[in-house]
Amino acid sequence: MRNKIIIGNWKMNKTPKEALELISTLKPLVENSEAEVVFCVPFVDIPCAVEALKGSSISVGAQNMHFEDSGAFTGEVSPGMLYELGVEYVIIGHSERRQYFAETDETVNKKVLKAFEYELIPIICCGETLEQREEGITMDWIKNQIVKAFENVPKENAMTAIVAYEPIWAIGTGKVATSEQAEEVCGHIRNVLREIYDDETAEEIRIQYGGSVNGANAKELLSMEDIDGGLVGGAALKADFANIVNYNK
Ligand code: PGA
Repeated sequence: MRNKIIIGNWKMNKTPKEALELISTLKPLVENSEAEVVFCVPFVDIPCAVEALKGSSISVGAQNMHFEDSGAFTGEVSPGMLYELGVEYVIIGHSERRQYFAETDETVNKKVLKAFEYELIPIICCGETLEQREEGITMDWIKNQIVKAFENVPKENAMTAIVAYEPIWAIGTGKVATSEQAEEVCGHIRNVLREIYDDETAEEIRIQYGGSVNGANAKELLSMEDIDGGLVGGAALKADFANIVNYNK
């Protein structure tokens, strides 16, 4: 039985001081919930978030990392730096990084492989544009993204990964995918993983939906068989996040 996992993607929001304020609001509301909870905060907020969440059931994640151990990469953050700070998860290949920061399927794969070397759990993002959906190529597109992201990833690592299906047209738009649309693609992703690995791996990997998830639509989405959680942007910055985490109460 896969336990649900709700991940807040704070994006480029909240200074360290503001992060502590948000954590003090959310922590009592989402702590010790049935679902696992992760806050993916901006790099500079990581130390204070780790400190504020120490001893709680909530984990801290990053939103990106470099695929090299260290070196002349001005402005980048290495996986070792994240690990040393107590980060447990890292978002890889978010569509905003693919769109604005030249992230490709190749760099996504390199980052996924490197994350495992540092015991960081990658949250691997995939998703189609509205044009691709209308053209009818969503399933092929997603399959390709998943196959490339998992290239050379051994089964024992793959089993611990998280995949986030985030249709680009649903991110930050208030236009949420229907639960049937989301389930169709999440189920497809599971089948692709079954083809790459085996039944055991496919049944173990958690697959999230992301894109305008909020307290009002979470229950329906999270009740779908192949949707094991949510990657939440806008609503992760508000008390409404607690309604998503506690969707079945
Ligand atoms: P949203 O963002 O919930 O604001 O649509 C989701 C995401 O980009 O991860």
